[in-house]
Amino acid sequence: MNKTTTDIKDDVVWHATEVTSDKRGLLSVHKPLTIWLTGLSASGKSTLAFALEKMLVESGGSAFVLDGDNVRHGLCKDLGFTAQDRTENIRRIAEVAKLMNEAGVMVMVACISPCTADRDNAKSIIGEERFLEVYLNTPLSVCERLDPKGLYRKARTGEIPNFTGVSAPYEVPVAPALKLDASELSVDDCVQAILSRVAI
Ligand code: ADX
Repeated sequence: MNKTTTDIKDDVVWHATEVTSDKRGLLSVHKPLTIWLTGLSASGKSTLAFALEKMLVESGGSAFVLDGDNVRHGLCKDLGFTAQDRTENIRRIAEVAKLMNEAGVMVMVACISPCTADRDNAKSIIGEERFLEVYLNTPLSVCERLDPKGLYRKARTGEIPNFTGVSAPYEVPVAPALKLDASELSVDDCVQAILSRVAI
């Protein structure tokens, strides 16, 4: 008889490591966190995430970007943009971020993550003490004017369905740790605003 997912879960036992987070922490130059950048497409998430990564790595830290577009080339390439697929996309990204934090790596997540419930789930997977929610509140009009990938134009003509901000919702974070408008602030200003919230 085939085993169900629940049976398999009962047969899979967690193997704990002797290298605890505290021991690992002694070797790290910074406390590993997940800086979760949420906002519309073209709001500046990826630019900011990669600028932070560069800054952290150049100062001797260990940092990595989990970028929404990039993970959809591999880990999440079976997922589309329905609400259900986005939920699974966020869950997978959060699980990877959690593992990377456990390994002592600072993680910048750059993904639209339009649903409050999905972001809350990410926070509970990663752990509240390691999760810093940053909302890129660059106005839709600016994102749409920039339209670096021409996706808003395609969304307006209906060529791309379920496009966040046009034909799919974006739920504004209720109490993010930080709000940054990339149309008003330089990349460097945004990097500094985040670093001032992160103990390095
Ligand atoms: S999320 O909603 O599941 O968090 P994610 O950040 O992974 O989205 O991917 C968003 C990227 O996919 C956008 O930057 C954009 O380039 C591209 N994209 C393609 N189709 C869509 C769509 N329907 N809605 C939003 N982004 C889309």
